[in-house]
Amino acid sequence: MSDATALSLEKLTLRYGNTTAVESLDLTIGKGELVALLGPSGCGKTTTMRAIAGLLAPSGGTIRLDGVDITRVATNKRHIGLMFQSYALFPHLTVFDNVAFGLKLKGIKGADLRNRVESGLKSVGLMDYAARKPPELSGGQQQRVALARSMVMEPKVLLLDEPLSNLDARLRLDMRTELQRVQKETGVTMIFVTHDQAEALALADRIVVMRKGAIEQIGTPEEIYNAPVSHFVADFVGFENIYSIRDGRLHSDTATLPIDGPLPDAAGLAFRPRAVVLGQGNLRGTVRGVSFAGGTREYVLETAFGTVKAEADAALPAYRLGEELVFDLPIQNAAILSRQ
Ligand SMILES: Nc1ncnc2c1ncn2[C@@H]1O[C@H](COP(=O)(O)OP(=O)(O)OP(=O)(O)O)[C@@H](O)[C@H]1O
Ligand SMILES: [Mg+2]
Repeated sequence: MSDATALSLEKLTLRYGNTTAVESLDLTIGKGELVALLGPSGCGKTTTMRAIAGLLAPSGGTIRLDGVDITRVATNKRHIGLMFQSYALFPHLTVFDNVAFGLKLKGIKGADLRNRVESGLKSVGLMDYAARKPPELSGGQQQRVALARSMVMEPKVLLLDEPLSNLDARLRLDMRTELQRVQKETGVTMIFVTHDQAEALALADRIVVMRKGAIEQIGTPEEIYNAPVSHFVADFVGFENIYSIRDGRLHSDTATLPIDGPLPDAAGLAFRPRAVVLGQGNLRGTVRGVSFAGGTREYVLETAFGTVKAEADAALPAYRLGEELVFDLPIQNAAILSRQ
């Protein structure tokens, strides 16, 4: 393991009674990295975080922090910070005292305490709010207090479980930027759980896509977005048209596509709507949906091999509902899936 490794999970297995929530998971996270755990509900994201934090004892495997085995170390001795979705601030305490709370428990007081709390509040832009109480703050400000409260403990790794899910769309975007800024400025290693692919793509240095308690793919946002390895990941990152390759032909769930020509030696092909070329080619479809999306128009096409989602520049003449058209799925526009 290199010096640059902050946290490593080795063959981590987590069970609740007879239910296996996470199975033999291997993951290495570098110092200062911001890693997103992305996956659908129930895939084991929170369970993994709880184990890292020491709130759930693994049934198997090892957790190392800075190379030291912490699998059996008590939660409060792990130097791991936690910020869950319900980040419950103390409503009767001021912002300052909320942020100071954990530090006081550690016996920090006087000027040292004040300096650390103030620098925490500064890093989230809330110095002017130190004397307020949580009910006098907006949702986003409360979120930032919770972030400051975690950060001042100087954790080696900070775990955030869907920290933005309580916020409205606009605040979420602001907090996203804020989180990323604080993370880069302080260099703290962060693991961030989300089931929102846009959030993971925007924030993370690396994304871990989880499925049914296992890792489906690990990669940079670009890799996950452009080169999903499987049907599952492709579907998750917005490839609306996904086909499998069998016996040298391309298949939808219901039919074989009339595409000639050599297919890659792979498990499938995935096309984003914008990869579909309208108005030329030898595939046929009928327009069953048109929606204007600003710069583009989105089409739902009915074809002999199922529904195809397409997207075209809004400056081009629009196809109308019920109109028949030809289109093409150029293989060079597809993501090549190596697994089913
Ligand atoms: N306390 C528990 N007892 C029994 N089973 C549990 C418990 N907590 C979670 N599970 C199960 O373990 C699996 C993983 O749950 P987990 O909470 O890790 O999912 P998640 O990926 O965080 O999902 P979400 O996106 O909905 O938060 C699920 O099948 C869930 O039902
Ligand atoms: Mg969860």
